[in-house]
Amino acid sequence: MPEYDPFTADASHKPMPMIDPFGRAISYLRVSVTDRCDFRCVYCMAENMTFLPKKEVLSLEELDRLCSAFVEKGVRKLRLTGGEPLVRKNIMSLIRTLGRHLDTGALDELTLTTNGSQLAKYARELADAGVRRINVSCDTLDADKFKAITRWGELDKVIAGIDAAQEAGLHIKINAVALKGVNEHEIEDMVRWAHGRGMDFTLIETMPLGDIEGDRTDQYLPLSVVRAKLLDTFTLEDIPYKTGGPARYVEVKETGGRLGFITPMTHNFCESCNRVRITCTGILYMCLGQDDAADLKTPLRQSEGNDLLYAAIDEAISRKPKGHDFVIDRRTKRPAVSRHMSVTGG
Ligand code: GTP
Ligand code: 5AD
Ligand code: SF4
Repeated sequence: MPEYDPFTADASHKPMPMIDPFGRAISYLRVSVTDRCDFRCVYCMAENMTFLPKKEVLSLEELDRLCSAFVEKGVRKLRLTGGEPLVRKNIMSLIRTLGRHLDTGALDELTLTTNGSQLAKYARELADAGVRRINVSCDTLDADKFKAITRWGELDKVIAGIDAAQEAGLHIKINAVALKGVNEHEIEDMVRWAHGRGMDFTLIETMPLGDIEGDRTDQYLPLSVVRAKLLDTFTLEDIPYKTGGPARYVEVKETGGRLGFITPMTHNFCESCNRVRITCTGILYMCLGQDDAADLKTPLRQSEGNDLLYAAIDEAISRKPKGHDFVIDRRTKRPAVSRHMSVTGG
């Protein structure tokens, strides 16, 4: 590993910004604060999952230090994910301390992606900590289908969470994974529902991560197909709205709301990738769709200063790959990467 060279850092002793070999600047960090979840979504997990022993997981203080080091290195957007981030014990204390980077202006956005099950409890505290916008996963508005997709989830609780979040003033983006024959015929209704409540709505193509006890070919619904179908009822106008994430947005003229498409399978967006992710054990993944990773827990624990950590981050960013190699078809039996989505939170 190369020695950290303080002279390459700028005069204000800021560490070097993160620029990958393809010239992409890294400004977005996704942090999986736990691999645990209270749901078992069929496209994400097997029903019987083995989770990490608690002792391997970074403490909240270590996560704060790690995130803050990335903020020093130019991260402007921090998204907490899981598993389900709100099932991590004392998660609010981490969110409150990270909120200081919003106060100083170092961070533009502190946010999370949640399944909504705990939102009714936490919405107010999230808003108080400086969170302004959250993403809530909800693939259907049919309670039975919701149970079938999430295996363990209850739609009522998620809707109550969404109500609480809106009452607390949080802006919401609903994420729905498009699933063939499951929510395929409900998408138009969901768009009307989300937009009727003033929420953005984003569709996601299912990605092949981890063994899930089922055939992904049966689930996979290309968004090119969904978009063509939506055009029968809606007028979709491309808009330049950007969040720093991978969605491309259109405005639905009939509802006045924003509809996003996340299309890793049919339209690769890797050329504009600005993000990396860390797991709750301090592993840095430079790409969601590749196995290559770097251990940041060791340099984090090796010294109280951050120089070793910065050097390890720089070395990892120098290996950031061009993109993923996801394929979903009948011939490809193995997922592109063996880890589950819940390890990195997407
Ligand atoms: P905002 O744009 O800030 O609202 O967030 P986001 O859409 O990037 O985040 P969210 O956690 O809601 O993720 C939505 C979907 O995008 C999930 O299925 C993620 O796995 C997927 N996603 C996010 N980043 C990447 C990426 O770099 N590559 C791929 N292939 N998928 C990604
Ligand atoms: N493919 C696409 N999206 C997925 N998500 C979880 N697993 C997958 C997958 N295999 C979504 C969740 C959540 C976001 C973090 O990722 O529904 O909205
Ligand atoms: Fe949990 Fe999210 Fe995975 Fe569903 S998609 S099992 S809510 S981590």
